[in-house]
Amino acid sequence: MKYIQLTEQYRPYVSLIQLNRPKELNALNMELMQELQQTLTTLDADTNVRVIIITGNEKAFAAGADIKQMADKKTIDMVAIDQFKTWDLIKKTKKPLIAAVSGFALGGGCELAMTCDMIVASETAKFGQPEIKIGIMPGAGGTQRLTKAIGKAKAMEMVLTGSFISAEEALNYGLINKIVPVELYLEETAKLAETIAAMSPVAAQLAKEAVNRAFETHLDEGLHFERKNFYLTFSSEDQKEGMKAFIEKRNPEYQGK
Ligand code: CAA
Repeated sequence: MKYIQLTEQYRPYVSLIQLNRPKELNALNMELMQELQQTLTTLDADTNVRVIIITGNEKAFAAGADIKQMADKKTIDMVAIDQFKTWDLIKKTKKPLIAAVSGFALGGGCELAMTCDMIVASETAKFGQPEIKIGIMPGAGGTQRLTKAIGKAKAMEMVLTGSFISAEEALNYGLINKIVPVELYLEETAKLAETIAAMSPVAAQLAKEAVNRAFETHLDEGLHFERKNFYLTFSSEDQKEGMKAFIEKRNPEYQGK
C-alpha cells in the first residue's frame, strides 16, 4: 500500500492504520481513501481483529480532501467520480473504530475522525471544517455529524467561518473523548482499544450499531433497534461466557461466537 501503513496486531486484537502522506499533511486523495476502505473491509472480516485505530502523525491527522486533486473539477466530474462511495463503505465498518488525532484534523480529516466511533486527541489537535475558505462546503458528513456532536451554534460558526477549535474546546463541546499529552496520544488510544477488545466482539459490534442508530433515527425507532440488538446478544456464546464469568468471579474469555 502506498498511502497507508497497517500494523495488524498492534496490540492483541487491535489493528493500527496510519495515514501516510506526511509531506501533504495526509491530504486524503482518492487513492488513499480507497486503500483505507479496502483495509477496513479486510480487517472487518478478520476474527483476529476486534478494534481498529486510525491515526496520522504528530503534525496532522489529515488536512482534508486533496484540494489539488479537486481544483479543476466541475460538478459533473465530481458526481461521476463519486468519491463518497468509499466513505459510505467506511461508514459500514462493524468493528469499533477509534481516531487517534494529533495536529490538524480539517475538512475531510475532521469528517474522517467523526466517522470513527471515538476520538482521542493530543493536546495539539485542531479540528475544523475550513471548506468555506476555498469556496466549497463540507461533503463527507461535516454539516451533519459536527452539528449532531457539538450543536447548531458552534457547528454553524465553524462551517461558515472555517475557524478551528482546539482539543480543549472539542472536549468541552463533546466532539472528542479525551485529551492526552502529545507523546502519549497513540499509547492512550491503544489502552482504550485494548479495553474494548477485551469485551465480547459480538456485543461490541451490536452496541456500536445501536448507538449509531441514535443519530440516524427517531427515538422510538432507535429504541426498537436497540432492543432487537440487545436480544440478539443472547444468541452468542460470548453472552453465556460473560455472565457465567461474572457469577464465577473470574475474567471472561471471549471467542467472538
Ligand atoms: N490538499 C492538498 N494538499 C494539501 C492539503 C490539502 N487539503 N493540505 C495541505 N496540503 C499540502 C500543501 O499544499 C503543502 O504542499 P507543498 O509543500 O507542495 O506546497 C503541504 O501540504 C504542507 O502544507 P502547508 O505548507 O500549507 O502547511 P502549513 O503548516 O503552513 O498549513 C494548514 C497547514 C493550515 C493545514 C494548511 O495546509 C491548509 O489550510 N490546508 C488545507 C485545509 C483545508 O482547506 N481542508 C479542506 C479540504 S476540502 C475537503 O476536505 C472537502 C470534503 O469535505 C471532503
